Amino acid sequence: MGFGRGKVILLGEHAVVHGYPAIAVGIDRGVVAEASPGDEDLLILSPWDLDVRPDPAGEPLERAFAIALSGHSKRPPLEVRAEIGLPGGAGLGCSAAIGVAVLQAIDEALGLERSREKLAEAAYEWEKIFHGNPSGIDNTMSAVGGVALFRKGEPLQPLRSNKPLHLVVGYSGQSPSTKEMVSSVARQLESDPVRVNKAFEAIDVLVRNAKLAIEAGDHVALGQLLDLNHTILSSLMLCTTKLDEMCQTARKTGALGAKMTGGGGGGCMIALAPKRDEALRIREILGENAFVTEVGA
Ligand code: MEV
Repeated sequence: MGFGRGKVILLGEHAVVHGYPAIAVGIDRGVVAEASPGDEDLLILSPWDLDVRPDPAGEPLERAFAIALSGHSKRPPLEVRAEIGLPGGAGLGCSAAIGVAVLQAIDEALGLERSREKLAEAAYEWEKIFHGNPSGIDNTMSAVGGVALFRKGEPLQPLRSNKPLHLVVGYSGQSPSTKEMVSSVARQLESDPVRVNKAFEAIDVLVRNAKLAIEAGDHVALGQLLDLNHTILSSLMLCTTKLDEMCQTARKTGALGAKMTGGGGGGCMIALAPKRDEALRIREILGENAFVTEVGA
């Protein structure tokens, strides 16, 4: 069975596309896939009710599936069934998780084995089809998981903490295109490099401090850093009124900090809770589109 995790970026999204570090966590929710010989190459995505046939010149999923199959010559036709347990376009790395799960399922059906790191590399090619210029953080966290510091082109740096992170993930119900949000930041960088580079440098400082806070188990400091990162992302016009409101609600309900996560323009926010009980209370207040995840224990 193939499994690709969803991911949550704690700090550093967007800046990470431009070579700065980011900290992310792999979550338990994700995509499960199974492949077996069939009548034709077919990818069945549930619960989206979508059948995809490989086509190198087709729609993104058709192209991605064609790439996933292309490395394997002498093989039977494969039917791949993927069960998606994440909202798409919500900043939780759904497309990368599908890629990792499908690639692993194909490997298993053909009796092949690759390390999670190699799987992450292969899933980068899949991810490029959906996001144009991805940093690689989504496919890497989807394949490898844990809590880690990621920087484009460098080995993933796992972070250790003796304290679990109690996170609440709230979905705004809006699913913007990550590709468009990344392009919007690139356009701002081109038209106003001084302002945007300052924002990236400030995010860089927050990420470095967050690494220390995680390693020291100082979640109060980490919460403050999340809040600050949210403000900088707002200045890049990535937050929405809905995300701001959700973050405010989480803070008022006892969160140590809260911010948008991923591409922004909608998608998801995260809140850091001091303990599991508080996390459950925040989730309840945020409503049915929110869930609790515990990482790094
Ligand atoms: C998307 O999950 C995170 C972004 O930084 C894009 C990327 O890193 O590829 C917005």
